[in-house]
Parts: sequence; C-alpha cells; structure tokens
Amino acid sequence: MNSYTDDFSILDFQRDLVDWYKMNQRDLPWRADQDPYKVWVSEIMLQQTRVDTVIPYFNRFLSLFPTLGALAEADEEKVLKAWEGLGYYSRVRNLQTAVKEVAEQYGGKVPDTPEEISKLKGVGPYTAGAILSIAYGVPEPAVDGNVMRVLSRILLIEEDIGKAKTRTLFEKAVRELISKEDPSSFNQAMMELGALICTPKSPACLICPVHEHCRAFDQGRQRELPVKEKKTKVRHVDMAALILRRADGKYLIHKRPKEGLLANLWEFPNVPVRKRGQSEIEDLTVFLDAEWGITAEIGDHISNLEHVFSHLKWDIQLFEGQCTTETGEKDDLKWVTFEEMEAFPFPVSHQKIIKLAKEVAVL
Ligand code: ADE
Repeated sequence: MNSYTDDFSILDFQRDLVDWYKMNQRDLPWRADQDPYKVWVSEIMLQQTRVDTVIPYFNRFLSLFPTLGALAEADEEKVLKAWEGLGYYSRVRNLQTAVKEVAEQYGGKVPDTPEEISKLKGVGPYTAGAILSIAYGVPEPAVDGNVMRVLSRILLIEEDIGKAKTRTLFEKAVRELISKEDPSSFNQAMMELGALICTPKSPACLICPVHEHCRAFDQGRQRELPVKEKKTKVRHVDMAALILRRADGKYLIHKRPKEGLLANLWEFPNVPVRKRGQSEIEDLTVFLDAEWGITAEIGDHISNLEHVFSHLKWDIQLFEGQCTTETGEKDDLKWVTFEEMEAFPFPVSHQKIIKLAKEVAVL
C-alpha cells in the first residue's frame, strides 16, 4: 500500500460527511459569516479551549474589538483582560502582534495564501488551514488533535499522534480526501464529527454518518485509536503567595515579565519556597525586601490552593501580611484598592487567590 487513501471511496466519503454536516452543524457564533478576522479569533480561542467555554469569550471579544483594525489599535492590557481565564495567554499576544502586521503590511486584509498567512505570528499549519478553508474556500488541511483522532480511526492510522511529524502524515491524507468544491464544510465537518460523534472515549459509531467508510469500526478497533504515548510528568513547584495590605487599605500587585509563563499578567507577590511548611514566611519576607525594598509583617496562613498547567503544577500556600514601609510604585508594581484590582488581567491561579481571600474576608 502506497497511501492511506488507496482503496478508499473518497467521493462517497466526502458526500456522506458534508451532507451530514450541513444537516447537523451546531449554530456557533463564528459561523454567522466568513469574516477572516472572526474565523481567526475563533480558531485561536478554540485551540486549547472547549467550544462551550469559548462562545461567551468570543462574543465579548468581538464586541470589544469588532474589527481587525480595532484589535490592532487596542491597549494590550484591555486585550489580556478580555482573554482573562482562557489561559495560554501567548495566544492572544501573538494574535495582536499578527493583526498589527496585517494592518500595516496587508492593508488590513488577512492574507489568503498559505505562504503569506503562515508567516504571521502564532499562525501554525492548523490555524492557516482553518482560516484559508473556512474564510476563503482554499482546499488546505486543518489538522488538530480532534481531526487526527477522527482520521486515525477512519483510515486506521497507528502512528503516535503526540509526535510532531505525524501531523504531516495526516495533512497528506487530508489533501487527498478534502472536497475541492467545499473545503470549508469538509474541514468543519471533520471538527464537528470529532466533537459530536467520534469522541475520545466512547465514539457513537452506530449513528456515525461515515461508519461505512471507517476501517477501525470495521475491525472493532475504534477504542484503540488514536495511538498516543503517555504524557511527560507534571513538575510540581511549591510556592508561597501573599495578599499584602498597606495602611491605606490598598493591596500590592505585580506585573509579570513580558516573556515567559503568563507574561504581562498581574499577580500577587509570590516565591517558590525552599522547604514546604518551614520557610514560607521567611522566603516571602526576604523576597519582598530583596526584590522591591518592601518590609512587611506576614501574618496568618489563609489557605492552600493548586493550579495545574500543561507541564507544571503550582501548590500555593496563601498568606496575608501588612506592609510596614512607604514604597513607591513602578510600571510593574502597583498598590490598588480591591475595586481597582478588577481592571487588571490576572491568570486563573491568581483569580483563585482573589476568590479565596474574599471568602475569608481578607480582601
Ligand atoms: N474546533 C476548532 N475549530 C472549530 C470550529 N471552527 N468549529 C467548531 N469546533 C472547532
């Protein structure tokens, strides 16, 4: 066999898949029109986030930044605030960088060729294919994890989908399968099938519109696919975080560096701790003084919380404290009231801190 699509009824498959999609597609806000900017925003949001979660974020984002030009000109902090809680914040920073480039280099029109669109920041092969096919009707593959799951079953592909080069193999298969008349419906139908029918744990094969074409179903092996090797272990970091209050009732918040994890988001002062249960207060005290020349009296331990990222877990012990010196402000260090805090973008881990501190009336 030379290709995964040998002996596969491509035209019948396209017809069964696309007909089903046209009858059964969900009414999602980014499907209201084919505006490339909206398609772009939706695809970036959908990359690591579920559809149900994305819908309200998408609607709000589009009401705040209704056009590509509006996003290009927006204040970064407002953009991050609109993304607050979605996670993977480099997605939105890259999106804004790329949108600015489109405004400047392409007169505000999202490019419609693979070569040009792929040069934009944050636009990888999946996003490029999704925008080109959905907004412009270009027959390019849009292969993400869901599409790999669906296709690994249909074509019985047993390569490890965790390996980078496996995606190329799936893209090659999609180039052969994709409808040249309606690439938009074809790609969205693959996504829809993955979301509604060909789900990870218990695929609904009996009501699947393409089960006649599915090699895994034919062999009763759908649950063995896709092949995915175990994830690398999550690294644990013990941290101490502090709600630091000043005599005037304001609290200290800090803006994270412009590079790295959760870049440019705001947080409460925090440090990794050397010895859990023994050195949190000392580590926080030393940190505040060394970093910002702040002296503080650290009081009660409020609570513990955890936050899991893809490869990292923070175990955070939360403390409260009183600042005992006058300190100035800097661009990345502010004293704010509880009400003022609302305007700053915080990562979910620090939103949890706000919620916990509110519950025990520390905030
Ligand atoms: N997942 C990724 N892109 C999608 C889209 N356009 N519609 C529904 N689910 C998706």
